[in-house]
Amino acid sequence: MTGNEIRRKFLEYFEKNGHKVVHSAPLLPANDPTLLFTNAGMNQFKDVFLGNEKRDYVRAASSQKCIRAGGKHNDLDEVGKTARHQTFFEMLGNFSFGDYFKEDAINFAWDFLVNEMKLDVNRLWFTVFEGDGEVPADTEARELWIKAGARPERILPFGRKDNFWQMAETGPCGPNSEINYYLGDEPENPEKNHPKWVNGEGDTTMEIWNLVFMQYNRIETAPGHYKLEPLPAPSVDTGLGLERMTLVMQGVSSNYDTDLLRPIVEFTAELSQG
Ligand code: ALA
Repeated sequence: MTGNEIRRKFLEYFEKNGHKVVHSAPLLPANDPTLLFTNAGMNQFKDVFLGNEKRDYVRAASSQKCIRAGGKHNDLDEVGKTARHQTFFEMLGNFSFGDYFKEDAINFAWDFLVNEMKLDVNRLWFTVFEGDGEVPADTEARELWIKAGARPERILPFGRKDNFWQMAETGPCGPNSEINYYLGDEPENPEKNHPKWVNGEGDTTMEIWNLVFMQYNRIETAPGHYKLEPLPAPSVDTGLGLERMTLVMQGVSSNYDTDLLRPIVEFTAELSQG
């Protein structure tokens, strides 16, 4: 399956499920001094999540062009070291603005990956927020993954760094749940397909999709001091890496070997041989 087909299948799947397909926003955010470059699909919906803007739809899906080369989400130090980071990438996303919440977000993700894309369930790992003094543990997401079909031992708790997502120092945010994919040769071998690789070293297991359960607005109360206020309505923001999903579907071991990026690498190599 080509990268272009994966993008199309994702958007068609969510359109069929009542989402309005919207275009990628420009890479330079028009109206947001908290961001230098667009870093996620949700950026163009920030004011909708905050309740400051209404659209004539409550579900959306997009393939958003993103740059993560600075600021809160900076991948620059990883580029060239891992098989899965670029400065520029496309984020496939589905969004709910006060419409569906955790259960549908989890069921859509499961259905798309397992039933539409036919991923091997045995290679999937899930993470949920473990809770801290400010935000409770997400036991609900754990139960919902089990209900969808995940094995309980495949659902792992992590803290703020991995399982609480915010777009910048301030703005909409919430606990998140990530889907990770084991890329190794022995999915049946528990010594190899092991939880230590989830959010661990290397590319043995790779995050492919992040589901954010948007519930709060993070505001600055005094310089360097922040607090979380509830959003007008619980919402959903997700991001599935198109290049990573293409890596998985094409059975290659690096994003740079997918049909999305390989031709660019080869063309650049030709040019440099002059
Ligand atoms: N906004 C979330 C992310 O960028 C989905 O990971």
